[in-house]
Amino acid sequence: MAAGLIAPHGGALTNRIVSDAEAADLRGEAAGLPQVTLSAKQACDLEMIAIGAFSPLVGFAGAADFESVCKQMRLVDGTVWPIPITLAVDEDTRSRLSEGGRASLVHSDGTLLAVIDVEEIYPHDKKLEVPNVFRTEDEAHPGVKAVAQEGEWLVGGPISVLTVTPEREPGEQFTEHRRPPAATRAEFERHGWKTIAAFQTRNPIHRAHEYLTKCAQEICDGLLIHPLVGETQPGDIPADVRMECYQTIIENYYVPERTLLSVMPAAMRYAGPREAILHALVRKNYGCSHFIVGRDHAGVGDYYGTYDAQEIFEGFDPAEIGIVPLKFEHAAYSKRAQGMVSAKTFPRIEGDQIFLSGTKVRELLAQGERPPQEFSRPEVADVLIRWATSS
Ligand code: ADX
Repeated sequence: MAAGLIAPHGGALTNRIVSDAEAADLRGEAAGLPQVTLSAKQACDLEMIAIGAFSPLVGFAGAADFESVCKQMRLVDGTVWPIPITLAVDEDTRSRLSEGGRASLVHSDGTLLAVIDVEEIYPHDKKLEVPNVFRTEDEAHPGVKAVAQEGEWLVGGPISVLTVTPEREPGEQFTEHRRPPAATRAEFERHGWKTIAAFQTRNPIHRAHEYLTKCAQEICDGLLIHPLVGETQPGDIPADVRMECYQTIIENYYVPERTLLSVMPAAMRYAGPREAILHALVRKNYGCSHFIVGRDHAGVGDYYGTYDAQEIFEGFDPAEIGIVPLKFEHAAYSKRAQGMVSAKTFPRIEGDQIFLSGTKVRELLAQGERPPQEFSRPEVADVLIRWATSS
């Protein structure tokens, strides 16, 4: 690993993907093991653990880590960790598992993904998890709803992974952009970048996003555009459409020698502040030194204050987080300034800033109309129009 790049969270990158020889043995063994079929969210978590993106985790949370993470945002050993990564199962599945045994973890299409050492089976304390992680118990919140629908038991233990994704149509998995942390680190070294800003997003890159990433580029050697492509809520723009938007905007508006596009296969939790910490730690594992946190990062609806996801970083010693948060005010295009501004850089004048709600943008796209270019680059708008008018 490059001496110059930031150390992974907890000190070393984990890798739970087994060798071909071990995989053959595990495949044989798995046939006789009880099976757990993973939800889409669990399959995303499995991949994140497998490739080292969730370092130092080596498996799904045991009871002590679950409680400590929910209450204190730390693993039992004191390492900062804001959201428990759990394997929830229902009563029926639980009855087929036993502590000290093993189980196979399979994708919903039946592909064998991994084997887990079942160290612990314990009740899923949703009353502890939900209000702590999400700051709300409202089941209209997509993250809360997802936990509410999960099984009442949690299975903890390390995993040995054969494959992270089942075979699908070529291209659908973004194979070319699906780099594990070791590979993004190698890319950064190849480019000779020492400081790298990571940009998390679950949306196409609009002008405000572009502004944030370019401010970051001015102070860092490189930019990692790192869209989340795991499970998101219905209504979010599909990952394959977004990928086309990212490629288009990079080709037309970024400097390729300074910009890397890669995907993060995590599921979205919409947990706002706690998820901002998780997003930052994960990007440290990918080798990034800086992490962009704008307004209402990883938020949904009105559950979080505009800057809660920035303020939460102040509760930690910066050395424990390691990666530096780059905090941005709400940015928008100002007609008077003829450029992107925030409350920090330009006086607020009534009616001066171009603001479009998500609903308004969707309406325009569905009618085949581009949003104003002060909001979205025309090349990006055209990709979105093609998608909106064909579905
Ligand atoms: S998120 O769930 O990934 O946070 P989104 O893709 O909209 O959603 O945001 C990506 C990043 O850009 C986040 O850090 C978010 O806070 C930031 N961001 C989005 N829009 C703005 C804006 N207008 N001004 C400042 N920051 C923004």
